[in-house]
Amino acid sequence: MINLLVEVMMKASRPLRTKVGLGVLTVGLALLTFTSWSLQSAEVDPNQIKFPNQFDSWQATVEQEEREDMLAQYPASIILWAGSSFAKEYHSPRGHQFAVADVTHTLRTGVAIAEGDKGLSASCWTCKTPDAPRLMKEMGIEGYSGANFVDLGREIKSVVYCSDCHIDGSEKLALPRPHAQDAMAKIKLPFDKQDSTMQGAQVCGQCHVSYYFQPENNNKVNIPWIFGNTADTIEKYYDTRRFYEWIHPISKTPILKARHPEFEHWSRSTHAKKGVTCITCHMPETKDDQGNAFTDHKVAGAMDNFEQACSSCHGSKSAMVKKLDKIKANIDAKARNVESLLVQAHYEAKAAWDAGATWPQMNDSIMAIRHAQWRWDFAMASHGLYAHNPKEGVELLDMATEQITYGREALARVLNQLSVEKVEYPDYSTKEKAHAAIGFIEADAIKAKQAFIKEEVDKHWQPVAKTGY
Ligand code: HEC
Ligand code: HEC
Ligand code: HEC
Ligand code: HEC
Repeated sequence: MINLLVEVMMKASRPLRTKVGLGVLTVGLALLTFTSWSLQSAEVDPNQIKFPNQFDSWQATVEQEEREDMLAQYPASIILWAGSSFAKEYHSPRGHQFAVADVTHTLRTGVAIAEGDKGLSASCWTCKTPDAPRLMKEMGIEGYSGANFVDLGREIKSVVYCSDCHIDGSEKLALPRPHAQDAMAKIKLPFDKQDSTMQGAQVCGQCHVSYYFQPENNNKVNIPWIFGNTADTIEKYYDTRRFYEWIHPISKTPILKARHPEFEHWSRSTHAKKGVTCITCHMPETKDDQGNAFTDHKVAGAMDNFEQACSSCHGSKSAMVKKLDKIKANIDAKARNVESLLVQAHYEAKAAWDAGATWPQMNDSIMAIRHAQWRWDFAMASHGLYAHNPKEGVELLDMATEQITYGREALARVLNQLSVEKVEYPDYSTKEKAHAAIGFIEADAIKAKQAFIKEEVDKHWQPVAKTGY
């Protein structure tokens, strides 16, 4: 626009001596000033002017661009999630500024769907952007969740933003997601009745929490805490409703999927009891160049904040790093063991079905697979579990080991009754081999996704959908 104006003015100003030329120049200059001013004011966010320190540190999460390919690290999970999109791509989380672009680009959210198909719910946008609560208001909650993920893509303008945690334009904390308000009331911690310490943790708990899409309510996001928010009470809720996310194609198990229950794990930790929250560790107080104190909005790993966030209670950083490494190694070893037992169980169940097993024969072992995999997932999907609540992590994995061991004993009896002597297990030593075992051709999925990005996202979506790509 500006370029065009300048060009017109340059052409018009050539015969400068003529009155017309001068007139065009004057009007042009006035227009240019007006246009660039209005362009600028459209770009400057009032929150940036009012709260520059918070704004700049919020924006700085764009520096946290590293992430890990979890499927390559733990290829067994590809077998355990077979039949669902989780088996296609799964990365560790990174900075908030990437939230919209990552959900746009992941193979999990696929491509545009055929006319008439329902496809993936727009509910997938819920924890990435303030446009989600906005659209819920505009379309109604079920109008929003009943829409397709791709159809609302062009509407998404911002990543996790001030208004996701504050009443917009103010520092007062807020919980704009209705399902999060409901959830906190279910565990008898209604947001409005909490002090600012608990409110701080709850704003994170809107998104860093386990949820599912309610099929009977147009795939509305629901946090399943009616009976409480432990693995046991959530499982009770799902079992009572006979809910499952998908039927596992190998073992026919009705699978439950946990999603990042960081809030749940933190809420039962020693830290929570002492009033140490997500904010204490991930958003500590810091100072600007002039020495003014403010809350650091560059939400990142907590160990970089050791001095401000931990040192008042814990000795040295190096001792803490060592301690965390040790806890993590112990949890990881237990998790890898449960995974290998679970993979074997899925294939043993398949062998039994193939040999003509019936549901009455299989019930016990299928339920054991469901319950063991749920506990494994409730531990593994919880990012930072080893720091947030290692005790519960160990308990979950020990219980999962017990359950799946029982399930495999039951399967061994069924296989014996059916005279099955040999079970074929897959090679899942690498991501490629595990994908081959479940028949997923990654290269094809990537090709289709790239075509979708080129045709739809690059042409029609907002710049935020491309951050980091
Ligand atoms: C992920 C949640 C989250 C986001 C996003 C967020 N804030 Fe905050 N903000 C907080 C929390 C938590 C506090 C600390 C509140 C407390 O301790 O009482 C806070 C504190 C503040 C304060 C009080 C002064 C201070 O520094 O402690 C201001 C002002 C503020 N935020 C502005 C902003 C602005 C502007 C944005 C957007 C650029 C933003 N916040 C984005 C969670 C968030
Ligand atoms: C509106 C939803 C939402 C809210 C609110 C939210 N987060 Fe996040 N958070 C995300 C998403 C989504 C990601 C992953 C982004 C990605 O990988 O693209 C993430 C990533 C993170 C990471 C990983 C950062 C890294 O560099 O590895 C941390 C730590 C984190 N969030 C902590 C918090 C804390 C603490 C709060 C509360 C102050 C909070 N989040 C509030 C959605 C949210
Ligand atoms: C006692 C301090 C502490 C508290 C309280 C805490 N965290 Fe963490 N968190 C950590 C540490 C330590 C890690 C491990 C990674 C690192 O910081 O180096 C971590 C990791 C994470 C990660 C994964 C980051 C990644 O890239 O893998 C997320 C997400 C996260 N925390 C969110 C939260 C949320 C949400 C809460 C509150 C419900 C919370 N944390 C409470 C210290 C804490
Ligand atoms: C207000 C004090 C306080 C702060 C701040 C604090 N902690 Fe703790 N932390 C405790 C207490 C109390 C315990 C339980 C007793 C123990 O194990 O030392 C604990 C335990 C731990 C444990 C052992 C595991 C567990 O949950 O029992 C780890 C790991 C840990 N803290 C990490 C951190 C990190 C990392 C930070 C900063 C990012 C931090 N803590 C900040 C008080 C604090």
